[in-house]
Amino acid sequence: MSQLSQLLCLADLSKSQLSGLLALASQIKQTPEEYSQALKGKSIALLFEKPSLRTRVSFDVGIYKLGGHSVYLDQQNGAMGVRESVEDFGSNLACWCDAIVARVYSQQTLLKLASSSKKPVINALSDLYHPCQALADLLSLQEVLGDLSKVHLAFVGDGNNVCHSLMLGAAILGMTLTVVTPPGFGPDAHVLLRAQALAAQSGAKLTLSQHVSAAAGADAIYTDTWLSMGNKADPAQIERAFAPFQINTAVMQRLGAKHFMHCLPAHRGQEVTSEVLDSDYSLVLRQAENRMHVQNAVLVSLFS
Ligand code: CP
Ligand code: NVA
Repeated sequence: MSQLSQLLCLADLSKSQLSGLLALASQIKQTPEEYSQALKGKSIALLFEKPSLRTRVSFDVGIYKLGGHSVYLDQQNGAMGVRESVEDFGSNLACWCDAIVARVYSQQTLLKLASSSKKPVINALSDLYHPCQALADLLSLQEVLGDLSKVHLAFVGDGNNVCHSLMLGAAILGMTLTVVTPPGFGPDAHVLLRAQALAAQSGAKLTLSQHVSAAAGADAIYTDTWLSMGNKADPAQIERAFAPFQINTAVMQRLGAKHFMHCLPAHRGQEVTSEVLDSDYSLVLRQAENRMHVQNAVLVSLFS
Protein backbone atom coordinates (compact mmCIF):
# COMPACT_ATOMS: atom_id res chain seq x y z
CA MET A 1 0.00 0.00 0.00
CA SER A 2 1.43 3.42 -0.88
CA GLN A 3 1.62 5.91 1.98
CA LEU A 4 -1.28 8.26 2.69
CA SER A 5 -0.72 12.00 2.62
CA GLN A 6 -4.15 13.05 3.95
CA LEU A 7 -7.74 11.80 4.11
CA LEU A 8 -10.33 14.35 3.01
CA CYS A 9 -12.56 11.98 1.04
CA LEU A 10 -12.47 8.24 0.26
CA ALA A 11 -12.15 9.05 -3.44
CA ASP A 12 -8.59 10.22 -2.58
CA LEU A 13 -7.73 6.53 -2.09
CA SER A 14 -6.88 3.90 -4.68
CA LYS A 15 -8.39 0.43 -4.37
CA SER A 16 -5.13 -0.93 -3.00
CA GLN A 17 -4.81 1.92 -0.48
CA LEU A 18 -8.37 1.32 0.73
CA SER A 19 -7.98 -2.48 1.00
CA GLY A 20 -4.54 -1.93 2.58
CA LEU A 21 -6.05 0.35 5.24
CA LEU A 22 -8.68 -2.29 6.11
CA ALA A 23 -5.97 -4.97 6.34
CA LEU A 24 -3.82 -2.74 8.54
CA ALA A 25 -6.81 -1.93 10.76
CA SER A 26 -7.42 -5.68 11.27
CA GLN A 27 -3.78 -6.17 12.12
CA ILE A 28 -3.78 -3.29 14.63
CA LYS A 29 -6.99 -4.66 16.16
CA GLN A 30 -5.45 -8.13 16.59
CA THR A 31 -1.98 -7.09 17.77
CA PRO A 32 -2.24 -3.57 19.25
CA GLU A 33 0.99 -4.01 21.24
CA GLU A 34 2.98 -4.03 17.98
CA TYR A 35 1.78 -0.48 17.26
CA SER A 36 2.07 0.98 20.77
CA GLN A 37 4.93 3.31 19.76
CA ALA A 38 3.79 4.06 16.19
CA LEU A 39 2.95 7.69 17.05
CA LYS A 40 5.69 8.21 19.66
CA GLY A 41 6.47 11.93 19.93
CA LYS A 42 3.56 12.92 17.66
CA SER A 43 0.87 15.40 18.64
CA ILE A 44 -2.45 15.42 16.79
CA ALA A 45 -4.94 18.31 16.89
CA LEU A 46 -8.62 17.27 17.16
CA LEU A 47 -10.53 20.29 15.88
CA PHE A 48 -14.32 20.02 16.20
CA GLU A 49 -16.93 22.51 14.96
CA LYS A 50 -19.75 20.07 15.79
CA PRO A 51 -20.58 17.73 18.67
CA SER A 52 -19.22 14.18 18.78
CA LEU A 53 -19.02 11.16 21.04
CA ARG A 54 -17.58 8.32 18.93
CA THR A 55 -15.21 10.32 16.73
CA ARG A 56 -13.74 12.42 19.50
CA VAL A 57 -13.24 9.54 21.95
CA SER A 58 -12.06 6.97 19.39
CA PHE A 59 -9.41 9.39 18.05
CA ASP A 60 -8.31 10.47 21.51
CA VAL A 61 -8.05 6.93 22.92
CA GLY A 62 -6.69 5.54 19.65
CA ILE A 63 -3.86 8.11 19.52
CA TYR A 64 -2.99 7.28 23.15
CA LYS A 65 -2.84 3.57 22.27
CA LEU A 66 -0.39 4.37 19.45
CA GLY A 67 1.88 6.23 21.89
CA GLY A 68 0.92 9.70 20.62
CA HIS A 69 -0.75 12.72 22.19
CA SER A 70 -3.92 14.57 21.19
CA VAL A 71 -5.06 18.16 21.74
CA TYR A 72 -8.82 18.73 21.59
CA LEU A 73 -10.08 22.11 20.37
CA ASP A 74 -13.76 22.92 20.47
CA GLN A 75 -15.16 26.15 19.11
CA GLN A 76 -15.88 27.90 22.41
CA ASN A 77 -12.45 29.47 22.76
CA GLY A 78 -12.17 31.16 19.39
CA ALA A 79 -14.13 29.64 16.53
CA MET A 80 -12.46 29.11 13.15
CA GLY A 81 -13.23 31.97 10.82
CA VAL A 82 -14.35 34.21 13.75
CA ARG A 83 -11.33 34.87 15.97
CA GLU A 84 -9.01 34.14 13.07
CA SER A 85 -9.31 32.70 9.60
CA VAL A 86 -9.45 29.00 8.81
CA GLU A 87 -6.15 29.35 6.96
CA ASP A 88 -4.49 30.93 10.01
CA PHE A 89 -5.78 28.03 12.13
CA GLY A 90 -4.23 25.58 9.67
CA SER A 91 -0.86 27.27 9.36
CA ASN A 92 -0.51 27.79 13.13
CA LEU A 93 -1.59 24.29 14.16
CA ALA A 94 0.97 22.88 11.74
CA CYS A 95 3.72 24.66 13.73
CA TRP A 96 3.11 22.38 16.73
CA CYS A 97 1.02 19.42 15.61
CA ASP A 98 1.90 16.57 13.29
CA ALA A 99 -1.63 16.18 11.87
CA ILE A 100 -5.05 17.82 12.13
CA VAL A 101 -8.23 15.79 12.56
CA ALA A 102 -11.16 18.12 11.81
CA ARG A 103 -14.95 17.85 12.03
CA VAL A 104 -16.41 20.79 10.12
CA TYR A 105 -19.64 22.20 8.74
CA SER A 106 -18.28 22.54 5.23
CA GLN A 107 -15.92 20.45 3.12
CA GLN A 108 -14.55 23.82 1.92
CA THR A 109 -13.18 24.40 5.43
CA LEU A 110 -11.24 21.13 5.20
CA LEU A 111 -9.81 22.18 1.85
CA LYS A 112 -8.71 25.51 3.35
CA LEU A 113 -7.13 23.75 6.34
CA ALA A 114 -5.36 21.30 4.06
CA SER A 115 -4.02 24.05 1.79
CA SER A 116 -2.72 26.16 4.68
CA SER A 117 -1.34 23.39 6.91
CA LYS A 118 2.00 21.79 6.14
CA LYS A 119 0.74 18.74 8.03
CA PRO A 120 -1.85 16.13 6.95
CA VAL A 121 -5.56 16.74 7.52
CA ILE A 122 -8.07 13.96 8.28
CA ASN A 123 -11.79 14.48 7.70
CA ALA A 124 -13.68 13.62 10.88
CA LEU A 125 -17.04 14.47 9.18
CA SER A 126 -18.14 17.33 6.97
CA ASP A 127 -21.38 18.24 5.22
CA LEU A 128 -20.33 16.02 2.29
CA TYR A 129 -18.35 13.09 3.65
CA HIS A 130 -17.60 10.90 6.66
CA PRO A 131 -14.70 8.75 5.42
CA CYS A 132 -13.60 7.42 8.84
CA GLN A 133 -17.14 6.15 9.41
CA ALA A 134 -17.27 4.37 6.05
CA LEU A 135 -13.88 2.75 6.71
CA ALA A 136 -15.21 1.36 10.01
CA ASP A 137 -18.37 0.17 8.25
CA LEU A 138 -16.40 -1.59 5.52
CA LEU A 139 -14.16 -3.27 8.09
CA SER A 140 -17.26 -4.40 10.02
CA LEU A 141 -18.85 -5.87 6.88
CA GLN A 142 -15.60 -7.60 5.95
CA GLU A 143 -15.32 -9.15 9.43
CA VAL A 144 -18.88 -10.46 9.34
CA LEU A 145 -19.34 -11.34 5.65
CA GLY A 146 -15.84 -11.74 4.19
CA ASP A 147 -14.97 -10.68 0.62
CA LEU A 148 -16.50 -7.21 0.15
CA SER A 149 -16.84 -7.62 -3.61
CA LYS A 150 -19.54 -10.21 -2.86
CA VAL A 151 -21.38 -8.08 -0.31
CA HIS A 152 -24.68 -6.30 -1.04
CA LEU A 153 -25.27 -3.33 1.26
CA ALA A 154 -28.42 -1.18 1.17
CA PHE A 155 -28.47 2.35 2.59
CA VAL A 156 -32.01 3.55 3.37
CA GLY A 157 -32.46 7.19 4.42
CA ASP A 158 -31.02 10.61 3.70
CA GLY A 159 -28.49 10.91 0.86
CA ASN A 160 -26.06 12.54 3.30
CA ASN A 161 -22.35 12.53 4.23
CA VAL A 162 -22.44 8.93 5.49
CA CYS A 163 -24.29 7.76 2.39
CA HIS A 164 -21.78 9.57 0.15
CA SER A 165 -18.76 7.96 1.80
CA LEU A 166 -20.37 4.51 1.61
CA MET A 167 -21.07 5.10 -2.10
CA LEU A 168 -17.43 5.99 -2.76
CA GLY A 169 -16.08 3.11 -0.65
CA ALA A 170 -18.40 0.56 -2.25
CA ALA A 171 -17.59 1.91 -5.72
CA ILE A 172 -13.82 1.68 -5.17
CA LEU A 173 -14.02 -1.87 -3.79
CA GLY A 174 -16.46 -3.34 -6.34
CA MET A 175 -19.34 -3.93 -3.93
CA THR A 176 -23.07 -3.96 -4.60
CA LEU A 177 -24.77 -0.94 -3.03
CA THR A 178 -28.44 0.04 -3.20
CA VAL A 179 -29.23 3.58 -2.04
CA VAL A 180 -32.89 4.20 -1.14
CA THR A 181 -33.91 7.78 -0.36
CA PRO A 182 -37.22 9.67 -0.22
CA PRO A 183 -37.89 11.86 -3.29
CA GLY A 184 -35.84 15.06 -3.00
CA PHE A 185 -33.32 13.58 -0.53
CA GLY A 186 -31.05 11.68 -2.91
CA PRO A 187 -27.25 11.87 -2.88
CA ASP A 188 -25.40 14.91 -4.21
CA ALA A 189 -25.20 14.78 -8.02
CA HIS A 190 -21.46 15.44 -8.13
CA VAL A 191 -20.71 12.69 -5.60
CA LEU A 192 -22.96 10.31 -7.54
CA LEU A 193 -21.03 10.97 -10.76
CA ARG A 194 -17.75 10.37 -8.97
CA ALA A 195 -19.04 7.11 -7.48
CA GLN A 196 -20.41 5.97 -10.84
CA ALA A 197 -17.04 6.62 -12.50
CA LEU A 198 -15.26 4.60 -9.79
CA ALA A 199 -17.87 1.83 -10.07
CA ALA A 200 -17.28 1.61 -13.82
CA GLN A 201 -13.60 0.88 -13.08
CA SER A 202 -14.16 -1.64 -10.26
CA GLY A 203 -17.30 -3.42 -11.48
CA ALA A 204 -19.29 -2.22 -8.45
CA LYS A 205 -23.09 -2.22 -8.82
CA LEU A 206 -24.58 1.04 -7.63
CA THR A 207 -28.39 1.39 -7.75
CA LEU A 208 -30.55 4.33 -6.65
CA SER A 209 -34.22 4.00 -5.75
CA GLN A 210 -37.02 5.76 -3.90
CA HIS A 211 -38.63 2.48 -2.83
CA VAL A 212 -37.58 0.51 0.25
CA SER A 213 -38.43 -2.71 -1.62
CA ALA A 214 -35.34 -2.08 -3.81
CA ALA A 215 -33.24 -3.09 -0.79
CA ALA A 216 -34.63 -6.66 -0.86
CA GLY A 217 -31.89 -9.27 -0.89
CA ALA A 218 -29.24 -7.01 0.66
CA ASP A 219 -26.96 -8.62 3.25
CA ALA A 220 -27.17 -5.56 5.49
CA ILE A 221 -29.47 -2.57 5.82
CA TYR A 222 -27.84 0.72 6.87
CA THR A 223 -29.62 3.85 8.01
CA ASP A 224 -28.66 7.20 9.54
CA THR A 225 -30.39 10.17 11.13
CA TRP A 226 -33.04 11.91 9.05
CA LEU A 227 -31.66 15.32 10.07
CA SER A 228 -27.89 15.68 10.06
CA MET A 229 -26.01 18.15 12.27
CA GLY A 230 -26.28 21.64 10.83
CA ASN A 231 -29.38 20.82 8.72
CA LYS A 232 -31.91 23.57 9.44
CA ALA A 233 -34.88 21.87 7.75
CA ASP A 234 -38.23 21.77 9.56
CA PRO A 235 -38.17 18.57 11.69
CA ALA A 236 -41.92 17.99 11.24
CA GLN A 237 -41.61 18.12 7.45
CA ILE A 238 -38.60 15.81 7.55
CA GLU A 239 -40.47 13.32 9.71
CA ARG A 240 -43.37 13.25 7.24
CA ALA A 241 -41.05 12.64 4.27
CA PHE A 242 -38.98 9.96 6.00
CA ALA A 243 -41.58 8.06 8.06
CA PRO A 244 -42.16 5.42 5.32
CA PHE A 245 -38.39 4.75 5.35
CA GLN A 246 -38.14 3.69 9.01
CA ILE A 247 -36.22 0.45 9.60
CA ASN A 248 -38.21 -1.79 11.91
CA THR A 249 -38.51 -5.54 12.43
CA ALA A 250 -41.22 -5.95 9.78
CA VAL A 251 -39.06 -4.12 7.20
CA MET A 252 -35.97 -6.18 8.08
CA GLN A 253 -38.00 -9.38 7.67
CA ARG A 254 -39.60 -8.26 4.43
CA LEU A 255 -36.20 -7.36 2.94
CA GLY A 256 -34.63 -10.60 4.20
CA ALA A 257 -31.52 -8.79 5.49
CA LYS A 258 -29.34 -10.53 8.07
CA HIS A 259 -27.61 -7.45 9.50
CA PHE A 260 -28.48 -3.90 10.54
CA MET A 261 -26.03 -0.98 10.53
CA HIS A 262 -26.09 2.63 11.75
CA CYS A 263 -23.24 5.10 12.28
CA LEU A 264 -24.92 6.46 15.47
CA PRO A 265 -26.15 8.53 17.19
CA ALA A 266 -29.52 6.83 16.57
CA HIS A 267 -32.92 8.39 17.06
CA ARG A 268 -34.95 5.52 18.45
CA GLY A 269 -38.46 5.41 17.01
CA GLN A 270 -37.50 7.59 14.05
CA GLU A 271 -35.10 6.12 11.48
CA VAL A 272 -34.86 2.85 13.45
CA THR A 273 -36.80 1.12 16.21
CA SER A 274 -35.11 0.02 19.45
CA GLU A 275 -36.04 -3.57 18.60
CA VAL A 276 -33.80 -3.48 15.50
CA LEU A 277 -31.07 -1.26 16.98
CA ASP A 278 -30.61 -3.52 20.03
CA SER A 279 -31.10 -6.82 18.17
CA ASP A 280 -28.52 -9.60 17.89
CA TYR A 281 -28.19 -8.81 14.19
CA SER A 282 -27.32 -5.15 14.81
CA LEU A 283 -23.67 -4.34 14.03
CA VAL A 284 -23.72 -0.84 15.53
CA LEU A 285 -21.32 -1.47 18.41
CA ARG A 286 -18.90 -3.36 16.16
CA GLN A 287 -18.97 -0.33 13.84
CA ALA A 288 -18.35 2.02 16.80
CA GLU A 289 -15.42 -0.07 18.06
CA ASN A 290 -13.94 -0.33 14.59
CA ARG A 291 -13.85 3.47 14.29
CA MET A 292 -10.77 3.42 16.49
CA HIS A 293 -9.01 0.62 14.59
CA VAL A 294 -9.51 2.13 11.13
CA GLN A 295 -8.53 5.62 12.29
CA ASN A 296 -5.41 4.16 13.87
CA ALA A 297 -4.64 2.49 10.54
CA VAL A 298 -4.99 5.90 8.85
CA LEU A 299 -2.68 7.53 11.40
CA VAL A 300 -0.09 4.75 11.21
CA SER A 301 -0.05 4.92 7.44
CA LEU A 302 0.34 8.73 7.49
CA PHE A 303 3.51 8.43 9.55
CA SER A 304 5.03 5.16 8.35
N1 CP B 1 -20.67 8.13 14.13
C1 CP B 1 -20.13 9.27 14.60
O1 CP B 1 -19.36 9.95 13.91
O2 CP B 1 -20.48 9.57 15.87
P1 CP B 1 -20.17 10.95 16.62
O3 CP B 1 -20.95 12.01 15.92
O4 CP B 1 -20.62 10.73 18.03
O5 CP B 1 -18.71 11.21 16.53
N1 NVA C 1 -25.26 12.25 9.02
C1 NVA C 1 -24.97 12.47 10.42
C2 NVA C 1 -23.84 11.61 10.86
C3 NVA C 1 -23.49 11.69 12.33
C4 NVA C 1 -22.34 10.84 12.71
C5 NVA C 1 -24.65 13.94 10.65
O1 NVA C 1 -23.93 14.52 9.84
O2 NVA C 1 -25.13 14.50 11.63
